[in-house]
Amino acid sequence: MRRPVFAANWKMNNGPSAARAFAAAFAARWTPRDDRTVIFFPPALSVSDVVHALGNRGGLAIGVQNIWTEDKGAFTGENSAPMAKDAGARYVLVGHSERRHVFGETDAETALKCAASVRSGLTPILCVGELLSQREAGETNNVVLKQLRAGLASQSANIVSSMAIAYEPVWAIGTGKTATPQDAAAVHVVIRGALREVAGASAEEIPILYGGSVNGANASALLAAPGVDGLLVGGASLDVESWLTICAG
Ligand code: PGA
Repeated sequence: MRRPVFAANWKMNNGPSAARAFAAAFAARWTPRDDRTVIFFPPALSVSDVVHALGNRGGLAIGVQNIWTEDKGAFTGENSAPMAKDAGARYVLVGHSERRHVFGETDAETALKCAASVRSGLTPILCVGELLSQREAGETNNVVLKQLRAGLASQSANIVSSMAIAYEPVWAIGTGKTATPQDAAAVHVVIRGALREVAGASAEEIPILYGGSVNGANASALLAAPGVDGLLVGGASLDVESWLTICAG
């Protein structure tokens, strides 16, 4: 049984002071529960602050929004998976649409970043999703499958079954235009099928999250869609009240 995953992608919001205040306010109101996983993805500079402010509360975890492909060296401005782990992170977002479309991250880089995460004992959440033009051209499944297969390339079935996937249609991210639960479910079925090809029966253990303009009003319906195992939330995770509402759903 996959337990639901609620992931807060803070993007470039909440520096150390704001992150500490948010995490403390959340922790004060959050009743620890073991039927779901809640993951915070603060900016890298705020990871340690969130780790300390949340303390050791069951079901809460921290991740980083990005890593570089190498473990250390002359890569000015980058952070590595071992550093993220040392700071207290357990998860890594790989291939988020802003990394792909704002920073030009390639499928080949997502594969290396998944590998680097796994090498350090971190769980990658590989993000995939189509542009509006690709959806309108009927290419959604092809785009998503290409990103998925490329990102998972060279990982063993065993490793793939320990990862997570997030389907985030680019046209739904930060736009207020959410995919319908039916839209999300249709793509999640395609992703699950491709995961079975790679990981066999253990593909059933892989959580597939939906992301894109999720908020307190639409979260429950999206989470109830067949095959949707969790939510990756940007804007609505920046408000303590709305994030608590979504995580309690
Ligand atoms: P959004 O962002 O919820 O603000 O659309 C989601 C994401 O980019 O992960």
